[in-house]
Formats: sequence, C-alpha cells, structure tokens
Amino acid sequence: MQSELRKRLLDAFTNSGEDFLSGQYLAELIGCSRTAVWKHIEELRKEGFELEAVRRKGYRIVKVPEKITANEVRLGLMTKRLGQNIHYEESVDSTQKIALQLSLDGAPEGTVVIAEEQTRGRGRMARAWFSPKYTGVWMSVILRPNLLPQKAPQLTLVTAVAVVQAIEELTSIKPEIKWPNDILINGKKITGILTELQAESDRINSVIIGIGMNVNQELEAYPEELLTIATSLRIESGNRLNRAELIRLVLAKLEHLYDLYLQEGFQPIKLLWESYAVSIGKMITARMVQGDLYGKALGITGDGVLMLEDEAGKVHFVYSADIEL
Ligand code: BTN
Repeated sequence: MQSELRKRLLDAFTNSGEDFLSGQYLAELIGCSRTAVWKHIEELRKEGFELEAVRRKGYRIVKVPEKITANEVRLGLMTKRLGQNIHYEESVDSTQKIALQLSLDGAPEGTVVIAEEQTRGRGRMARAWFSPKYTGVWMSVILRPNLLPQKAPQLTLVTAVAVVQAIEELTSIKPEIKWPNDILINGKKITGILTELQAESDRINSVIIGIGMNVNQELEAYPEELLTIATSLRIESGNRLNRAELIRLVLAKLEHLYDLYLQEGFQPIKLLWESYAVSIGKMITARMVQGDLYGKALGITGDGVLMLEDEAGKVHFVYSADIEL
C-alpha cells in the first residue's frame, strides 16, 4: 500500500475514535474502490492492527500494533556499550545501510539501529530479507573491535550464540545453529545474521552486525515461498513476545560474549557455539560459489571455519557456503 494512502486511512480511523467508518466513506476519502479499501484493511491486519468489521456499519480499529520505542529498549538495558546509543526508525530500506552511514560519520561502538520495517532488508549472498512491520526485530549493531579484518567472521558466530541464549532465556525453546549463522527452530529459520565489514588491510574500522529475528509474525504473514523455510517465535512458542525485552536481552548477551571473545579469544565461543550446532557430525551439502561439496561436517576450526570431510576422506575448509542438511 502506498504510504500516503495508508496514512490517510489511519488518520481517518484515529479521528473517528470508537465510531465505525463505512467502506464507502473510506473509499471516497482515500480515492479508491471499496475492494481496494478491503485490501488495505487486510494489509493493516497483517501488520498487527486488529479491526472490527460490522455489516452495514463498517470498520473500526480495536487494537493498534505494539511499537518498539527507543526509551522502552533503554529502560532496564543491562549493558555498558551496546544499545547506549539507539537510532529508531519506523521504516527504512535496510538498517545495515543506516548503520554504515552512522559508522562512517563516527558513531561510537555499540550504536544500534532498530527499524519497525525494512523495505529492502538484505540477507546473505545478496538475498532479500523479509522484514514486515511491527512484528520482527530488524536491527544493526556497530562494533569497532581492535582485531585483524580476517577475524571478523568470528563475530557472526559470537552473535549467533548470543541470539540463541536470549531466545532460550525468554521462551525456554532451545534453538539450533546451522553454520555459520542460521538460527533454526524445528528446522525452520527464526533468525539470520549478516556481518559486514569496513576495514583497511590490517585494521577494522567497523563491523556492522545485522540481526533479523522473526518474532510476532503469524503464519498468514508469510508469503507462500517462505512458509516451509521460515517460522517465528510466536508460531513456535504460542506466545506474543515483547520485542523491546528481546532486544535488551540479545544486546546484553552479545555484549557479554563479545567481551569474553575480546579477552579470551574464540575458544570459549567455539565450545558454546558447538553445543547448539545442528550440522556437526552429519552428512551435509555445502553449496559454494565454486560448486557443491558433500561430506561429513567435522566441526569448526579455532577460527570458526567449517571442516568438511568428503567421501574420499579428504578434509575441506569451508569459508563461505549455504548448508543443506
Ligand atoms: C541471512 O540469514 O541471510 C541474514 C539476514 C540478516 C537480516 C538482518 S535484518 C537487520 C539487518 N538489516 C538488513 O538489511 N539485514 C540485516
């Protein structure tokens, strides 16, 4: 729906309070057909608005979706750096893009960009990331570690452990990690992580960690092609979650594990990561730019690289791939 039409529709409902507005009235107001009004109303429902429809009276809004506010995230945030500086946006193309600009403008480590909706959310391998309004956590965190650039991919694994721990604490569901960064519940994706790096040859300027979490979406929210591969915490736990609380928890876990990593290196993270890993010990296919590789996932190296043993017994080191179980 065009945003101007959406705004006029929502303004009309806001001004009418508890009164019903007829389809005909709304159609004339926003200059479209009654069928189009009905479609717009369905879109609003997908975004979490609850609308009551009564024959011969029309529609009224009975519940507006829960928005995240930066203050709500700050309230009770148990971190020293991560999330102390929050940029909240209603709608952006990608939080990664905003975070990159902020980092180039000198934003401090721990700056977080949160959006209610992304119109061009990005996934790994230049894929699109479905980021519907008011239902997920779409955020990017700026880190400025004093590390060699080749270590940056390890931060993806640090983040994966933080997200899994936060989900476990909030829902009692134990998600699984599929190397390197897919977080799954019952084999379906609940969270994706995208790590993007700005660096010189021997020094990191910033690492932007993008975290996309499917939280309060209901089944109807998903397009057909995602239904078999994606799920949400609401679908899996049966409960609507407070997204601000989830964000606070992810940031707290991430700060703790990031500090542990900076102090003690990757080894303690590796152990935690392996305790959640779903692919280790299994026969998998690694789909890479160079072609597919089938074999047994032996584990990850001390640097977070996947080790795959092919059928001839040769061990391959996989730096970047999609894994099929
Ligand atoms: C993947 O699994 O392919 C990674 C998905 C990462 C999605 C997040 S949502 C917040 C941030 N902004 C983006 O455009 N992408 C990341």
